[in-house]
Amino acid sequence: MAITLDPWGHFTIEDYGKLIEQFGMMPIDPVLDLLPKNHHFFQRKIVFGHRDLDLWLKALKEGGRNAVLTGFMPSGHVHLGHLMVIEELKYFQEHGAQITVVIADAEAYAVRKVKRDQLFNYSEEYISYALAAGLDPYKTKFYFQTNQRSEYYRLIHMFSRKVTTAEMEAIYGSLEPAKIVASLTQAADILHIQLEEYGGFENVLVPVGADQDPHIRLTRDLADRFSEELKLKRPSSMYHKFARGLDGNKMSSSRPEYAVFLSDPIDIVKSKIMKALTGGRATADEQRELGGEPWKCTVFDLYSYYLAIDDRSLKDVYNDCISGRTLCGECKLKACNELVKLIKNLQELAKRYISAGLINKVIEYPSF
Ligand code: TRP
Ligand code: SF4
Repeated sequence: MAITLDPWGHFTIEDYGKLIEQFGMMPIDPVLDLLPKNHHFFQRKIVFGHRDLDLWLKALKEGGRNAVLTGFMPSGHVHLGHLMVIEELKYFQEHGAQITVVIADAEAYAVRKVKRDQLFNYSEEYISYALAAGLDPYKTKFYFQTNQRSEYYRLIHMFSRKVTTAEMEAIYGSLEPAKIVASLTQAADILHIQLEEYGGFENVLVPVGADQDPHIRLTRDLADRFSEELKLKRPSSMYHKFARGLDGNKMSSSRPEYAVFLSDPIDIVKSKIMKALTGGRATADEQRELGGEPWKCTVFDLYSYYLAIDDRSLKDVYNDCISGRTLCGECKLKACNELVKLIKNLQELAKRYISAGLINKVIEYPSF
């Protein structure tokens, strides 16, 4: 059977293509050649767009002091979508960039209304899984938004002087004070590591989900407005597709039955996966005849993002699916077994990091 479909990225790319168009992000293809090493996230267009990633990569190649900074909001449990971001950080850490992870406890408190006494538990969970997934505990800087030095907070106050309500509303829609503060705080997160006091990193890359682009646009504008006074430079950014939940919509802790949490008990992981939305046909006979539709399938996503790292094995899953050779039950079970192995390993490592007290060594405590 002649197979002409390309499993790497053609599905749903149209929607992301529109995003690129509408917001003026850059598509990822022209940048692929500049990467220090191939990574399936880029090749499969899971990372689909960017702003000035090319400049950042060129600076890296020239031995620049490059940094990558991203943030986690401690407002729920860590899920597979977060694992993707950690994997991106690990990739850049292996290629010499300094990695900073901000724990957005102020944002979680003010915008998501997380109780103060829950913030630390969620934060600890994020950090333990970030280390378990392979970030170097001795090279990664973790910090809390509520526990920085004065230079960081000064930025928030300075930024507030050079942005208007109209501009913020054009970027975000209507905004209450908590969100205004959170946006300016995020700009300070992204820009403060350019300050001498915080390392003086000139080339900063922010890997995030596409939903964070408004923050990136605001931050880049602020960098321009403070290019003289603070010598700030525009940060670069890159955008990944959302990990889809097991019902096909965005994976989110607000719909826990469709998200795979790294801390889920193994039998829960199994039952979630076995119920996942696939691209299978109504009956087994129909599927044998017509083949499945992997581009619709959340289990295929699991293979593409996390399980079938080499192209050969992803191609096998794809071909077995569209030819009708494999039926969904079998395919799910295989995905489930592999995912369980991966998650069990992460859980054990995360537990070890916590019980060894390492979390306390790698973070500065929040002042909340
Ligand atoms: N707002 C981000 C979120 O909702 C968290 C965050 C805070 C962040 N500061 C950041 C992300 C700086 C990237 C860079 O998850
Ligand atoms: Fe998805 Fe596998 Fe079923 Fe194809 S066979 S639709 S990839 S679960």
